[in-house]
Amino acid sequence: MAERKGPERLDKLIAAQTSLSRREVHQLISRGQVVVNGQAVRGFDAKADPDLDQVTVSGRPLALKRYSYLMLHKPRGVVCATQDRALPTVLDLVPPPLRRSGLFPAGRLDKDTTGFVLLTNDGAFAHRILSPKSHVPKVYTARLDSPAGPEVCQAFAQGMRIGSDQCLPALLELVDPSGLVARVTLREGMYHQIKRMFGAFGIGVEELHRDRIGGLDLDPALPVGNCRELNREELEKILQE
Ligand code: URA
Repeated sequence: MAERKGPERLDKLIAAQTSLSRREVHQLISRGQVVVNGQAVRGFDAKADPDLDQVTVSGRPLALKRYSYLMLHKPRGVVCATQDRALPTVLDLVPPPLRRSGLFPAGRLDKDTTGFVLLTNDGAFAHRILSPKSHVPKVYTARLDSPAGPEVCQAFAQGMRIGSDQCLPALLELVDPSGLVARVTLREGMYHQIKRMFGAFGIGVEELHRDRIGGLDLDPALPVGNCRELNREELEKILQE
């Protein structure tokens, strides 16, 4: 979560929080329809503190939040990018009332990976959960095409080398006796990392799903393809293990 930053340009805040353009916000300001703490705003450069000020636009209160944090249950076939020429992106799944300027996925899942994606416009928070230095664990369930054994668990735990990349130690737990379902905990996110780690043993990953980021599980009540806002308590959980 971002630190408090104090007042910001109101036109920018309102445009980021609504479907209004800055020009439309200026028109409303000219008509006296933007009110901060009971006073109509004068001047397009007026500022407001999203953490403290009460803002109404055309008589409707606006919950000004500087940053937005969404939990998305990513389906297969959707790319973790802000735009793509051919395929739907995770941002296409955000319903209009939750759309904000600057939203992006904090960490990428492959097109065929499902599960928990955090969308935010808070770059500092995204950096905190993505940086290997922060050690925020991400937990995945992998369905394998051939069984993994103890030697694979040991290699994951030691920190594998895949190509020119040196991985941090990772936890591999075999969920059932077949060795075909595995729970993997990573504290970093390199390109195709889990597939490449299993691939080093000739094991293919048939399905991959992210269950958890930090101490927060994907909400089991959130249908595939849906997203919802996270509350403060949930955000704090992400930063706990
Ligand atoms: N590792 C992978 O190989 N793919 C993902 O989507 C995430 C982790």
